[in-house]
Amino acid sequence: MDSDEDVRMSDGEAPNLFSNSFKGKGKAVDLLLNGKESDSLENLPWVEKYRPVTLDDVVSHKSITTTIEKFIEGNRLPHMLFYGPPGTGKTSTILAVARRIYGADYRKQTLELNASDDRGIDVVREQIKQFAEMRTLFNKGFKLIILDEADMMTQAAQAALRRVIEQYTKNVRFCIICNYVNKITPAIQSRCTRFRFSPLPLPEVERRLTGVIEQEGVKISKDGIEALLKLCKGDMRRALSVLQACHAAYDSTTETEVYNCPGSPHPSDIETIIKSMMSDDFGTSYQMVQALRTERGIALQDFITGAFEFVDTIDFEPQARIYILDHLATTEHRLSTGGSEKIQLSALIAAFKNAVELSAKTRV
Ligand SMILES: Nc1ncnc2c1ncn2[C@@H]1O[C@H](COP(=O)(O)OP(=O)(O)OP(=O)(O)O)[C@@H](O)[C@H]1O
Ligand SMILES: [Mg+2]
Repeated sequence: MDSDEDVRMSDGEAPNLFSNSFKGKGKAVDLLLNGKESDSLENLPWVEKYRPVTLDDVVSHKSITTTIEKFIEGNRLPHMLFYGPPGTGKTSTILAVARRIYGADYRKQTLELNASDDRGIDVVREQIKQFAEMRTLFNKGFKLIILDEADMMTQAAQAALRRVIEQYTKNVRFCIICNYVNKITPAIQSRCTRFRFSPLPLPEVERRLTGVIEQEGVKISKDGIEALLKLCKGDMRRALSVLQACHAAYDSTTETEVYNCPGSPHPSDIETIIKSMMSDDFGTSYQMVQALRTERGIALQDFITGAFEFVDTIDFEPQARIYILDHLATTEHRLSTGGSEKIQLSALIAAFKNAVELSAKTRV
């Protein structure tokens, strides 16, 4: 009997049977977990609750997911480098990849390190070495090490990493994730296949948001959804968290609630402020802007972002437009280095007045 089993194990069918049952088990465990966790799932922030589970769930980036799928099918996954702006699905994609390769038990085969962990040279060497050398019961070829937010790693740690990558290529695949690819040393970049995660196209964000809106029973108007899309600029995390905040704070959500909720200035407030800066006298304008800012809780920094978009619509001569854009940029920089809001606001009002004069002068 025993030998019979042995023969069957070695006749080539066994690995298939094994991988099928592994996959099946993975799904069953996933379902089980989902069932058991459904109560606590309710309390999760929506960004976690609606995090894609499979590669197919990942919105947009189809060329990336199909390429990775092919790598997995051919069992030749390279080291990978994911980069792009926040909330575009980098972490979600690699977690889906891990789930796809190892099933629900993927955490045993995966080491995830992010910026909150200590990642000096010693950590890179020791923790990775330990994990890479550890044998597991169901060893499926290679293990996965995810270095999230890698642009925060020191240069020394990155230098140590390039040797480590080569040393363990036999049984480990690395996935390095960052927002700014230029902060990753070229030596590491050349060891990885690079995938760029661009901001998500708004129609795709809208489709996914609509699903969440239906599922959660959010009451939101059409202009509310439009405002949400405009605000998120292709960042799905931002869109979901603003939506959840609005849903928690208001019975029904329109454009106004969306802009109120995260303290982002409403476009009409920006327009009022800029019009006042351009046409009222200095004192009146200053009082009015301060009152509106206090009432709506608008930070000067947020105003500058809004003003930057609005300046396009003002009928300025090119020279005046250049002048004011330059001032917006300088003010933003000064604020980020700790400049006083009051002084910067006064300077900005003065700059708008100068721009109006400049525009009038160059027009004649
Ligand atoms: N492409 C996507 N498809 C579906 N949901 C997405 C996608 N991108 C982001 N999300 C949603 O946004 C949340 C955050 O995504 P994720 O953690 O993958 O972003 P990230 O690219 O890793 O961002 P960061 O650079 O800030 O770490 C997810 O939980 C998910 O709900
Ligand atoms: Mg991430």
